[in-house]
Amino acid sequence: MKKITIPSLQEKKSKKKKIKCLTAYDAIMAKILDDSGVDIILVGDSLGMVVQGKQNTLSVTMNDMKYHTRIVASAVSNALVIADMPFLSYHGLIEDAVLNAGSFLQECGADAVKVEGGEAVIDIVYDMVELGIPVMGHVGLTPQKVKQYGGFKTQGKTTAEAKTILTDAKLLEEAGTFAIIAEGIPAELGKKLAKEISVPIIGIGAGPYTDGQILVINDLIGLTEYVPGFAKQYCNMKEVVSKSVAEYMLDIDNGKFPVPPDKEKDNMKHLKSIK
Ligand code: KIV
Repeated sequence: MKKITIPSLQEKKSKKKKIKCLTAYDAIMAKILDDSGVDIILVGDSLGMVVQGKQNTLSVTMNDMKYHTRIVASAVSNALVIADMPFLSYHGLIEDAVLNAGSFLQECGADAVKVEGGEAVIDIVYDMVELGIPVMGHVGLTPQKVKQYGGFKTQGKTTAEAKTILTDAKLLEEAGTFAIIAEGIPAELGKKLAKEISVPIIGIGAGPYTDGQILVINDLIGLTEYVPGFAKQYCNMKEVVSKSVAEYMLDIDNGKFPVPPDKEKDNMKHLKSIK
């Protein structure tokens, strides 16, 4: 397998080959996904919810993201590793935002960063791109605005909202983002974005017409408290873990685990003489 590069993603869009992306937060899962051949592994700030068990992503810090990005990047050989910039890490001074973004590349081994929003973050995106930091955008339902939305609600259902999302995506394209995530929007808007924006549009809850798809890995394997309606759960790891743990506890009670040592082969008899 070849290392996925930013130009190779653009090539996929032009050849109408779907771009496949997933999130990962630890080295073991990152290696499984990388060996499976996904194009992009996003170290999402969704880890606030699926790893830290919080209600939203707002409390995730730069330190959290750097720790998880480092361990994911160390296990990945081919996929593009993208670090999600957490809430408030790119909302203050432009200099701080650029240094935070750069630290994911310099210290953690990420290939790129992701920011949420359009017009509101556009100056920061211009500066990052100009300095050589590849940036992925994120429009539509941007989870860092969950308090404003009053919950994780589909965006772009009215004409005005749809126009804003399209404008944000165009601004991000002009600012030099190499791809844009479109989350929680009607399928027709996802289709329009993929048609009108030259860089790859990666959908999540944005219908089947985008240039690629991303899911939170815990949703895909059923290892969450709650799986969003748009996600597809391919197995139920929560059930597998619960059953395995129940069996383990029963085995301890019944003396089935650990198994008694084979008497003939027991070469530890000398231990019996220890007083
Ligand atoms: O944080 C995350 O995992 C994300 C994806 C859901 C796109 O932003």
